[in-house]
Amino acid sequence: MRIYVTKNYDEMSRKAANIISAQIILKPDCVLGLATGSTPVGIYSQLVDWYEKGDLDFSEVITVNLDEYRGLGAESEQSYVYYMRKNLFDKVNLKSENVHLPDGRITDAEKACRAYNTMLAEIGPQDLQLLGLGKNGHIGFNEPGKFFEKDVHCVELTQSTVEANQRFFEAGKSVPTHAYTMGIRSILRAKRILVVASGEDKADAVQKVFFGQVTPEVPGSILQLHDDVTLVADEGAFSKCRA
Ligand code: GLP
Repeated sequence: MRIYVTKNYDEMSRKAANIISAQIILKPDCVLGLATGSTPVGIYSQLVDWYEKGDLDFSEVITVNLDEYRGLGAESEQSYVYYMRKNLFDKVNLKSENVHLPDGRITDAEKACRAYNTMLAEIGPQDLQLLGLGKNGHIGFNEPGKFFEKDVHCVELTQSTVEANQRFFEAGKSVPTHAYTMGIRSILRAKRILVVASGEDKADAVQKVFFGQVTPEVPGSILQLHDDVTLVADEGAFSKCRA
């Protein structure tokens, strides 16, 4: 595992964006696995900057997102497809047919998951998968549990995740209770994995995920078994990893 500890959020974003842009330059038709949440916002903004300066070209890039809320479509500002359009898709020259997320509008979970699994299998492994971390060590929406779920599946979100995500929803609007997410196998098949974390409230998660026991109770801990993982964390997020 490669670890970069940065001074702050901005440096973390620039470093991670550098790694992603190197991937695109090296392989212009790469498959990028993308993540949502507040952590990657600065990365996307940096990538958009470089695109606007003419340094990056997304015309052949294919993207696959980790997850989406069940019941939300692009018209909902809280959906991940809306987030991706706002932060990246609408700002660079990605082709609309090359971007993929689970379809939250399909409420039949089995159908939605099967469709996304099939699509992932057709596209092939991600060349690079970007991941954030939930405070409880979740990746995508793989919540702590008794076993690792392998493929795309529908999850019931834990109370702590619902609470953490409440900030993105207007007062009175409740956070969806279910989401579709890539499973652990869908994530681990990526050739390279890039994890980003910022702030002291992620310090426990970073410590447990990268230096704790590998257990489904801390879903991200499975990343210790992947042979090409890079962590870019700022000092706050890395603060519990220093002896
Ligand atoms: C959500 C997403 C995850 C993300 C996590 C952390 O639960 N499904 O993919 O990593 O939030 O988000 P944030 O970066 O806002 O802390």
